[in-house]
Amino acid sequence: MKFVVLLFVLVSSSSPYLAWAFDEATYFNVTDYGAIGDGRTESSKAFLKAWDAACKDTVKSPTVYVPPKSIFLVNPVNFNGPCNGPGINLLILGTIVAPNAPSAWDGKDASQWLAVTNTKGLSVVGFGVIDGQGKAWWDQSCKYHPKLKNCTTLAPTAWKFIGCNNSIVSNIRFINSAQTHISVQGCNGFLIQNVTIESPGNSPNTDGIHIQSTHHLSINDSKITNGDDCISIGDHSSHLSISNIQCTLGHGISIGSLGRSGNLVQVENINVTNCIFNDTTNGARIKTWQVGRGYLKHIAFERLTFNNVKNPIIIDQNYCDVSGACPELKTGVQISNVSYRHAVGTSATHIAINLNCSKSVPCHGISMESVQLTSAITGKQVTANCSNAYGREHDIVPGPCLPHETHQDTMI
Ligand SMILES: *[C@@H]1O[C@H](CO)[C@@H](O)[C@H](O)[C@H]1NC(C)=O
Ligand SMILES: *[C@@H]1O[C@H](CO)[C@@H](O)[C@H](O)[C@H]1NC(C)=O
Ligand SMILES: *[C@@H]1O[C@H](CO)[C@@H](O)[C@H](O)[C@H]1NC(C)=O
Ligand SMILES: *[C@@H]1O[C@H](CO)[C@@H](O)[C@H](O)[C@H]1NC(C)=O
Ligand SMILES: *[C@@H]1O[C@H](CO)[C@@H](O)[C@H](O)[C@H]1NC(C)=O
Ligand SMILES: *[C@@H]1O[C@H](CO)[C@@H](O)[C@H](O)[C@H]1NC(C)=O
Ligand SMILES: *[C@@H]1O[C@H](CO)[C@@H](O)[C@H](O)[C@H]1NC(C)=O
Ligand SMILES: *[C@@H]1O[C@H](CO)[C@@H](O)[C@H](O)[C@H]1NC(C)=O
Ligand SMILES: *[C@@H]1O[C@H](CO)[C@@H](O)[C@H](O)[C@H]1NC(C)=O
Ligand SMILES: *[C@@H]1O[C@H](CO)[C@@H](O)[C@H](O)[C@H]1NC(C)=O
Repeated sequence: MKFVVLLFVLVSSSSPYLAWAFDEATYFNVTDYGAIGDGRTESSKAFLKAWDAACKDTVKSPTVYVPPKSIFLVNPVNFNGPCNGPGINLLILGTIVAPNAPSAWDGKDASQWLAVTNTKGLSVVGFGVIDGQGKAWWDQSCKYHPKLKNCTTLAPTAWKFIGCNNSIVSNIRFINSAQTHISVQGCNGFLIQNVTIESPGNSPNTDGIHIQSTHHLSINDSKITNGDDCISIGDHSSHLSISNIQCTLGHGISIGSLGRSGNLVQVENINVTNCIFNDTTNGARIKTWQVGRGYLKHIAFERLTFNNVKNPIIIDQNYCDVSGACPELKTGVQISNVSYRHAVGTSATHIAINLNCSKSVPCHGISMESVQLTSAITGKQVTANCSNAYGREHDIVPGPCLPHETHQDTMI
């Protein structure tokens, strides 16, 4: 069954990403394809049929519709493009839950639950919930249960977007993913807005949003509480803007780890602004492997608030799986033009600012201005430790940290 409706102001639209969305939508209601929203009936085939029908449609913006007040149990499934229309929407008003037993992935790719690949003009919006039901995976995770005979290191990412150009994900709530909640890979033009991500602080590897090989992406106005990186940025990404994010528990916003396999790193133009970190292990973190090559440059961290954060500002250019186990190398990722401006708050450890750059490939063009960090523990002092990092600083507490500028530095 197909009918045409006009849908307005679901997402306020000043963004170029939304130009095609929701002007005239043809609906593909998953229940019309056999989905049953009783929380028990496995409905992946119905979802796939609705997607395939929408994807074949040539109207401007076909919409796969997931009705409200229903819970759809959906096994691992791939929604593949390319589609025939200029865009495709998923309007999710109900809840989509993953199977609660890892055995549902037997014979399937255990790295993912839901995935969309190879689309343009995708929008995933609504007030719905994506529930990864990750507990059984966490309970067998090698990270926290190394003694378990069949412990697993790989668990499904709740939703992967692979090769999805000009996409938007908005208003959705993601909870309890088995591993990463949202992963964006190989996409060009992506907006994530007003999403909520929630999983326990002790859930293993439950990154909020992971970005890899992606260009021109923004993440705005979102709340992330989880057990691993709030947002992590991998190799080959550029022109990213991250603003108004609240990160709670978890490991903070991390650029890296970069260059793990000795690959050429090309990461640049990233702005992280107006973010709050509460009880996270890191705040603004950059981490690179010594074996990495290439560069990380033009990074701005601005207007950040830290509450009881273990490493509020940190660069670790000697990142290693097991601390201290990687031998010192002559190689490294060249880090330059990184600025920290208007950062305030409290550190849960002694070292509030830790710029630990490579002896062989030092950090250049670091700029720090108006940074005020104190200890989260009354009466304790904090320090700033910078090694092999060069640049300018002004109005830094604790400080000073950066050595005076060198000639080389002014060349950046
Ligand atoms: C979708 O299907 C549900 C269940 O059949 C129905 O209640 C609802 O009205 C349908 N909505 C749309 C927009 O098709
Ligand atoms: C996405 O953009 C890239 C780079 O412009 C292009 O190579 C690719 O074909 C596009 N993919 C789709 C599905 O439009
Ligand atoms: C953000 O998403 C939530 C949950 O879906 C919704 O209730 C709220 O209205 C959204 N806010 C905006 C500004 O769109
Ligand atoms: C462990 O592996 C065995 C044999 O592959 C399997 O039967 C069992 O269900 C697994 N247990 C868990 C907890 O995955
Ligand atoms: C989201 O971020 C982008 C890039 O900074 C910006 O253009 C856009 O206005 C922001 N949207 C909202 C709703 O803040
Ligand atoms: C980051 O901020 C700089 C300085 O305001 C601006 O030139 C650049 O375009 C911004 N980059 C992104 C991806 O928003
Ligand atoms: C973060 O902590 C501050 C200070 O304790 C508190 O005022 C704020 O509400 C917290 N924010 C979140 C998102 O938990
Ligand atoms: C440093 O990077 C910012 C973007 O984050 C850019 O606007 C600025 O021009 C860069 N400065 C230099 C000296 O390259
Ligand atoms: C810097 O990194 C080295 C090598 O991993 C480590 O031994 C040292 O303790 C670190 N310094 C700080 C201040 O964290
Ligand atoms: C950090 O800096 C303080 C003060 O300069 C110094 O006493 C301490 O040894 C440094 N810690 C590390 C791990 O380098």
